[in-house]
Amino acid sequence: MNKKSAPTLEIKNVYRSFKQGSQTLEVLKGINLDIDKGEVIALIGPSGAGKSTLLQIAGLLERPSKGEIYLDGQKCSKLGDAMRTVLRRDYLGFVYQYHNLLPDFDAAENVMLPQLIAGVRPKVAREKAQWLLSRLGLGKRFKHRPAELSGGEQQRVAIARALANTPKLLLADEPTGNLDPKTSETVFAELLSIVKETGLSALIATHNHDLANQMDRKVELEDGKLVDLRASLSVSRENFY
Ligand SMILES: Nc1ncnc2c1ncn2[C@@H]1O[C@H](COP(=O)(O)OP(=O)(O)O)[C@@H](O)[C@H]1O
Ligand SMILES: [Mg+2]
Repeated sequence: MNKKSAPTLEIKNVYRSFKQGSQTLEVLKGINLDIDKGEVIALIGPSGAGKSTLLQIAGLLERPSKGEIYLDGQKCSKLGDAMRTVLRRDYLGFVYQYHNLLPDFDAAENVMLPQLIAGVRPKVAREKAQWLLSRLGLGKRFKHRPAELSGGEQQRVAIARALANTPKLLLADEPTGNLDPKTSETVFAELLSIVKETGLSALIATHNHDLANQMDRKVELEDGKLVDLRASLSVSRENFY
């Protein structure tokens, strides 16, 4: 692989358009973004701005119309579907607004499942699941099925599941967007703390500015382009002297 350590994620000049009848909807118009190791970036922008589209492309669930995604220096357009699936499984973790937990499996089993698919032994997978769930305050909820958990608890299980295979990059699409404000704040704080503790990189879409302000950096999708809000954030006392 690369001699110098490559960014965890590089988005290079990414375009994405959707054909709708005779019309072409251009959602992403030349997006560039690097995420370094351990960096946590907020992706903001109003509903319909293209946040989910960008996250799906970054997460290799969709291909861009033009442009390139590099994960750990690997050019992803060159990879076949099998290798992209392996990268998604081993390198990436996903959290969605709706948890998508499997209803017939309990919390621990939901967190074990991606590990079993990756070939981890059940005993090891269970220990990891229990550690993650305990870390997220669900030590007494291992055997609860999703329907027996509150919304905040379900999202915590979804976060544990995303972290189960020790990803390098977490992609989260409005991970607390479905929760009441207070629960959202708590779950979000826990998510950030575990991300920082494990040193992984993250790209987290939210339209909550208070949550976005807690991350290392904010970028905003505006009319298909990405605006880096670091410049406006870096106005500090030094600017006055
Ligand atoms: N598969 C698709 N086909 C057609 N249009 C789509 C598709 N996915 C997203 N879009 C359109 O792209 C725009 C951006 O959507 P999305 O990425 O979901 O925005 P956000 O997540 O910021 O709310 C929307 O106008 C949406 O209707
Ligand atoms: Mg969205």
